Amino acid sequence: MRWDLTVHLFTSLLSIYQASNFFLERLKKDKVRKKDTRGMGLFSSRKAHSGFSGSNTAEEVTRGIDATALTAIITGASSGIGSETERILALRGVHVVIAVRNMSKGQAVKEAIMKENSNAKVDVMEINLSSMASVRKFASEFKSLNLPLNILINNAGVATYFKLSQDNIEMMFATNHLGHFLLTNLLLETMKSTADQSNIEGRIINVSSNAHKYSYNGGILFDNISDESRFNIMWAYAQSKLANVLHANELARRLKEEGVLITSNSLTPGAVETNIFRDTILSGKTVAAIFLLRSKYFPYSFLRTSIATSLGKYFLKTVQQGASTTCYVALHPNVKGVNGEYFRNNNISESNSKAQDTELSKKLWDFSIKLCENNGNA
Ligand SMILES: NC(=O)c1ccc[n+]([C@@H]2O[C@H](COP(=O)([O-])OP(=O)(O)OC[C@H]3O[C@@H](n4cnc5c(N)ncnc54)[C@H](OP(=O)(O)O)[C@@H]3O)[C@@H](O)[C@H]2O)c1
Ligand SMILES: *[C@@H]1O[C@H](CO)[C@@H](O)[C@H](O)[C@H]1NC(C)=O
Ligand SMILES: *[C@@H]1O[C@H](CO)[C@@H](O)[C@H](O)[C@H]1NC(C)=O
Ligand SMILES: *[C@@H]1O[C@H](CO)[C@@H](O)[C@H](O)[C@H]1NC(C)=O
Ligand SMILES: *[C@@H]1O[C@H](CO)[C@@H](O)[C@H](O)[C@H]1NC(C)=O
Ligand SMILES: *[C@@H]1O[C@H](CO)[C@@H](O)[C@H](O)[C@H]1NC(C)=O
Repeated sequence: MRWDLTVHLFTSLLSIYQASNFFLERLKKDKVRKKDTRGMGLFSSRKAHSGFSGSNTAEEVTRGIDATALTAIITGASSGIGSETERILALRGVHVVIAVRNMSKGQAVKEAIMKENSNAKVDVMEINLSSMASVRKFASEFKSLNLPLNILINNAGVATYFKLSQDNIEMMFATNHLGHFLLTNLLLETMKSTADQSNIEGRIINVSSNAHKYSYNGGILFDNISDESRFNIMWAYAQSKLANVLHANELARRLKEEGVLITSNSLTPGAVETNIFRDTILSGKTVAAIFLLRSKYFPYSFLRTSIATSLGKYFLKTVQQGASTTCYVALHPNVKGVNGEYFRNNNISESNSKAQDTELSKKLWDFSIKLCENNGNA
């Protein structure tokens, strides 16, 4: 009961935070655009240096790209941002292997994609990222197919109250970070040989979150990652998302050192209306409306209700927009050679100082290796 309340509180706060950020960014952009229109820039600074902004869809940021030579794995592609990423990569010709915990859900998503695009190359394989045994089984089954691997998208994620994984590790750290850490390590050899043989840059992408900025003091609870007495859903979700950025950065450093033709980046999709907060009573639109009602930008009470209901949808990205940064980083030629960066709204952005702490990323790497080697015992 207590946890349920905490889940609600945390997710509402997080959504309000994300929605307000998105709103403020829009205001900022609108200001810039107005200035430009009066001057001579005409919309130009509204666009990122990539030429895209956060409101572009995944289809728009990949238009014209022919990716028929590539194979990708996407985790958690049975829902939300992952399934849209899958649809767009398949549309651009990528052979997509989706790694899902619920095979019937995965098959249904595949069928929907095939119905729209009969040329799509989509395979569905089972993985439960909260179980190391399942991750190992997936990796060995994938390798037995002898497919190349150009792109790995670590997208699956959960936001949940305190639970232990199959390996007795706090569920969000286990799923969002550790399962992906193990998966990435197990697939790295395949990615290296694909990059060597094809001379095409491999790309590893971690779907993190802006929430990574709100982790525990010190970043990661190295002394006891599964300590229920210190558990707080907001900090623990943030911790797992901080781990995604740290992992990407440390991996980027290692790949560069080895001189491998593979890059590793992380990103935030922004505030997107998906089922990630399915454990909560609030939908994204409700949260956006709540934000609006309390907003100083709409001080007149008679305006509030009507504006809140009609504009609520603008404060969250659609799934088509939410998947755009992932698809941009996966496929766009602009991103060639970019390594160890954090993306937001189809542009390089700043992660927080903890996420850039190389000591912390090394420490997390060693900690994760130990957990994987000992099946959960650090
Ligand atoms: N939505 C946002 O506003 C937002 C903001 C920042 C970051 N993100 C990040 O974006 C990513 C995608 O989230 P989403 O918003 O698209 O949420 P979503 O619709 O809930 O999708 C999450 C996916 O992860 C899968 N998954 C969860 N636990 C798993 C496990 N143990 N093994 C295998 N797959 C598992 C889910 O599978 P099932 O279909 O079987 O449940 C689902 O396909 C997450 O990493 C999330 O942290 C989202
Ligand atoms: C995109 O990133 C570049 C380089 O970091 C920055 O100069 C530019 O202002 C960004 N554009 C937007 C719209 O955020
Ligand atoms: C898998 O997905 C199906 C269809 O969405 C659903 O009915 C079923 O309950 C899910 N199974 C599990 C174990 O979550
Ligand atoms: C995934 O593993 C967890 C334990 O870590 C288990 O509780 C859950 O039922 C599993 N889910 C599926 C769909 O296999
Ligand atoms: C970690 O925390 C759990 C739950 O709070 C506790 O049972 C366990 O003994 C702790 N482990 C260590 C090594 O302190
Ligand atoms: C992605 O995140 C996982 C888990 O945090 C980490 O092990 C991995 O190195 C990261 N990789 C990239 C490319 O971000």
